[in-house]
Amino acid sequence: MTTNSATLNRTLFVSDNLPVLRGLDSESVDLIATDPPFNKNVKTFEGTTRAGERVSYKDIWTWGDVQTDWTNAILADHPKLYSVIQGANMAAGDDMGAFLCWMGVRVLEMHRVLSRRGSIYLHCDSTASHYLKAMMDAVFGRENFRNEIAWCYGGRGLARRWFNKKHDIILYYVKSEDGYFNVEGASRPVAQEHVGRYNKVDEDGRRYARIKNKDGSYSNIYLKDVVREDWWEIPYVRGNEVTGYPTQKPLALYKRMIEASSDPGDMVLDPFAGCATTCVAAEQLGRHWIGVDINEQAGDIIRDRLQGEVSASMAWHSIVSTPTEPPVRTDGGDAVAPELVVLGQTVRAKRVPVSELRRLLEADHGMRCQGCGYMPPFLDYLEVDHKKPKSLGGGNELSNRTLLCKPCNLRKSNKLTLSQLRDDREREGRMIDLAWWEVERWK
Ligand SMILES: C[S@@+](CC[C@H](N)C(=O)[O-])C[C@H]1O[C@@H](n2cnc3c(N)ncnc32)[C@H](O)[C@@H]1O
Repeated sequence: MTTNSATLNRTLFVSDNLPVLRGLDSESVDLIATDPPFNKNVKTFEGTTRAGERVSYKDIWTWGDVQTDWTNAILADHPKLYSVIQGANMAAGDDMGAFLCWMGVRVLEMHRVLSRRGSIYLHCDSTASHYLKAMMDAVFGRENFRNEIAWCYGGRGLARRWFNKKHDIILYYVKSEDGYFNVEGASRPVAQEHVGRYNKVDEDGRRYARIKNKDGSYSNIYLKDVVREDWWEIPYVRGNEVTGYPTQKPLALYKRMIEASSDPGDMVLDPFAGCATTCVAAEQLGRHWIGVDINEQAGDIIRDRLQGEVSASMAWHSIVSTPTEPPVRTDGGDAVAPELVVLGQTVRAKRVPVSELRRLLEADHGMRCQGCGYMPPFLDYLEVDHKKPKSLGGGNELSNRTLLCKPCNLRKSNKLTLSQLRDDREREGRMIDLAWWEVERWK
């Protein structure tokens, strides 16, 4: 299966989104607007669809939900993200650390699949928004943060001990400085009470106001729509829009994101599609779309919605495909977080004893000094050191650790990197002869 937009438009994968994200080509998506679980500590959010089917999903997280290849990949290749997860785990507890790790490995892929002009809107609430923002900074870069949008949905509240919580948070980031922002799509008309000020009309029929400047001169200020504020008052879903899906979000909310950050024909992705609000909004606005949801009813729900909310005359059953298998990349690249071996859940704020580090490194590289190639009779003879010394900015992560014999460790001290040490050892003729295949493995 190919993954270009033309073939995947109007596809809703009924699957865990991680393999689907890993199967999408890099830079193949223009906009991600998504509403994942929020870490609400809820065993099941439940609902009944219009077709009378029970639907549910969980929003409770433990380290049991996290696979070691995710922690390994984050630990080895994404130290900033690793630090955020570790910090959240220490500050808020295991559920937050596990949730962020589970999200982080997915957000890394979301970042990869976005095009340079792409944007992401990550919906969350005050439960984890502060940790998720740090996570997004780590993956997308602080400079690519654009807005923290407050979706104010109103309604009656029952709080007696604090203020009623009546808004969600949507973190808006772009992939790069080329991130697309459609000013017209992001604007609202000038409020009626201000229109009267624009009481002049030019030869093209455009309304303008004549304003006196400080220096006494005059300028013409044209009536233009104004870009929206970062708080959006949109009521919760109601009336015919209600599908019965738990935590369904309003179409108007997702349309706003799509109009602001894409053009017709662009590819919109929602990896946590639920009852497909993003996909329906994208279809209504003439965008291409891909959705993913782990819930097996997702395919029926989206077809039902497209029938009712886009067009009753189109054959959505044959137009929308709902594969359960992930796509296969056509750009030949690797996932950002490929499967690695060794190490358990050390992303938790737990010190790994040196004996354990030694064992893990031996499992990866063999019982051999990584400086000169010497193979000692006992593992204990080898010392654990940093490949890049801490004095040069190296960290404590496993991928920056290595095993050295005592003479190599002394020679390297905290001044040389591992490759500089090897160069020195080679120059000095202290390298133990290795078979070519060992050299390859060793590099
Ligand atoms: C908050 S709901 C999304 C609601 C959606 N915005 C709507 O308007 O219906 C989160 C969704 O994420 C889905 N989900 C949870 N884990 C998932 C995973 N690993 N892969 C794909 N979808 C997942 C759940 O089934 C649920 O539908």
